[in-house]
Amino acid sequence: SQRKFFVIGNWKMNVDKARIDNIVKFMSAASLDPNTEAVVGCPSCYLSYARQRLPDEIAVAAQNCYKVAHGNFSGEISPAMILDSGCEWVILGHPERRTIFKESDQLIAEKVAHAQQTGIKIIACLCETSEDREEGRTDDVLFGQMKSLASISDWSRVVIAFEALWASNTGVLATAAQVQEALAKLRHWLRANVSDKVANSTRILYAGSVSSSNCRELAQLEDLDGFLVGSAALRPDIVDIINARR
Ligand code: G3H
Repeated sequence: SQRKFFVIGNWKMNVDKARIDNIVKFMSAASLDPNTEAVVGCPSCYLSYARQRLPDEIAVAAQNCYKVAHGNFSGEISPAMILDSGCEWVILGHPERRTIFKESDQLIAEKVAHAQQTGIKIIACLCETSEDREEGRTDDVLFGQMKSLASISDWSRVVIAFEALWASNTGVLATAAQVQEALAKLRHWLRANVSDKVANSTRILYAGSVSSSNCRELAQLEDLDGFLVGSAALRPDIVDIINARR
């Protein structure tokens, strides 16, 4: 595949310096597949701390940012600040931002547009809830969320992550067939609405209870190019997930 396998371990709001030190220790000691692009999602207050301690081969992402470069927006950070902290990536539209903090497709679209202008690399998240699935509106919801990416001109700096929220921290696992079906739909959307080239080259990740026990099977799926990992990213399991294709 022309798409380099991509794994981001998103620490969410679950780390402090001691925990970061522990994660850095086991990630640094491990042999990581050089054919995987490895990234961690770090709380904003620890971006510089994590960047300084992790090996250069592991990139650092912020978990969110605002839609303008600077100004009177207390509590927010901008893509420029993330880049200035030595980090290359930002996660936008994470399902927790959408569901808990009520970020709309419109706000996420504005964040994506600004972030892309700054040159930061974007992990753009889409999600499906159990209600979406039960009520048969998954396609409308996902394709509506994809429209937040309409402003993207440089797709080489964008990775898409699909999260099955009904399979995240619920004990219900998505089957390989369900994951492949969703990712294929997103790639088809790129083919129909952007271009063949972008559909063939853009990494599409799966999220939702990815662990060391299910990553190897999922890693073989045709349209899967990696994972957005939550809870397993706090444990040495993340090493197995980075190495899922080795
Ligand atoms: O950012 C990560 C996703 O929300 C998935 O989290 O692997 O704990 O289900 P999880």
